[in-house]
Amino acid sequence: MSQEADRGCWIIQDSHDVAIIVGPGARRLIGRLALEYGPYSTIVVVADAGAPRAMLGDILAGIRDAGIPVYFTELPGGEKTKTLDTVVQLWSWMAKENVPRDALLVAYGGGAVSDTAGFVAATYMRGIDWATVPTTLLAMADAAVGGKTAVNLGAKNIVGVFHHPRIVVADIDHLGTLPHEEYVSGLAEIVKHAAIHGRDLLDWLRGNAEGLVKRNPETLTRAVKYSLDVKMSIVSRDYREKRGDRMILNLGHTVAHALEKATGYTMRHGYAVAIGLVVEGIAATMKLGAPREDIEEIRSLLSSIGLPTAPPSGLDPMETLEAIKLDKKRRGNRIVMPMLKEIGKPVLVSMGIEEALDLLAEAWRLAASSGQ
Ligand SMILES: NC(=O)c1ccc[n+]([C@@H]2O[C@H](COP(=O)([O-])OP(=O)(O)OC[C@H]3O[C@@H](n4cnc5c(N)ncnc54)[C@H](O)[C@@H]3O)[C@@H](O)[C@H]2O)c1
Repeated sequence: MSQEADRGCWIIQDSHDVAIIVGPGARRLIGRLALEYGPYSTIVVVADAGAPRAMLGDILAGIRDAGIPVYFTELPGGEKTKTLDTVVQLWSWMAKENVPRDALLVAYGGGAVSDTAGFVAATYMRGIDWATVPTTLLAMADAAVGGKTAVNLGAKNIVGVFHHPRIVVADIDHLGTLPHEEYVSGLAEIVKHAAIHGRDLLDWLRGNAEGLVKRNPETLTRAVKYSLDVKMSIVSRDYREKRGDRMILNLGHTVAHALEKATGYTMRHGYAVAIGLVVEGIAATMKLGAPREDIEEIRSLLSSIGLPTAPPSGLDPMETLEAIKLDKKRRGNRIVMPMLKEIGKPVLVSMGIEEALDLLAEAWRLAASSGQ
């Protein structure tokens, strides 16, 4: 991975030729980047209707300035957009407009719009290049890299493929308009990446917690960049999720998915991940002898940036955790879970399903009692 700082923006080039630009104002570079990474005869912009209009205007202007013809359409933001109906609608529209194979699709919006538009790019005419301009913190710090595209079908992300974007433009100017809960939720994945990476990054986050809460642009630029660095370094070892290395990125997610299911998906993903990091961290102290201070450090950082660290009192642990029987990480009667041996030392642990249930339920009770 090579990188350089340019007028407040970080430019990261990964080993697979994906260009990642992070920083305030980065959206204005999209036309220039399309010229550099193309040639593209046409650009198709698929925008999230909930993302800031003025900044979308800058993106469209940048593309026009680059002299590339542009088509534009809008989708409602959020989970309701992640359907096959939306995909068919986009395919049909692009075919009707004669969008050619050498077009670049630009997804502008939150993770739901980018997962959907990325899937359209992966499948339209057997696949065209795409760029993503994430506009939520979760999409910037996590969803934008890794190449996962999908729509829901009954359950989440049932139909999808790996199709890495060529260009990622994480312009932190977008984060000013995010509602508080949406913003804080995105911070959980940043903490997860830091816990996987090591103490230096976790210490940096702790030292900059106030800047994060206040959405300081410089702090945010660095936090998003660090987060993407960690994710890219894991993803580039296992580009299409064939070897298992990427399972490490599921830290906190076994419990998080169970919590999301039990709350009928009303709990925000990042809130569930934050609780999951604590419960699974306590489980790691019992199963692997992970240092209690390490888990306490993660818990206090999550709490200082406004994330929950204890499971909601109305949920029964055993009933909630039953969901792990349907977890994608299950292999027969066993489940493979990422756990922290210590901060910066994630390992994959294989356990019988019943053992995992008992362990996590006990950790859940401890997290609940220490959160009172
Ligand atoms: N592909 C991946 O690797 C990956 C990783 C994590 C999550 N995801 C997916 O991402 C989705 C969640 O994404 P999300 O958290 O970005 O939420 P989201 O895409 O559901 O968007 C949430 C809301 O925020 C609005 N919005 C977008 N940008 C905004 C802005 N700048 N200001 C104000 N409002 C804005 C949207 O219109 C929407 O109403 C889920 O579907 C999840 O499965 C994918």
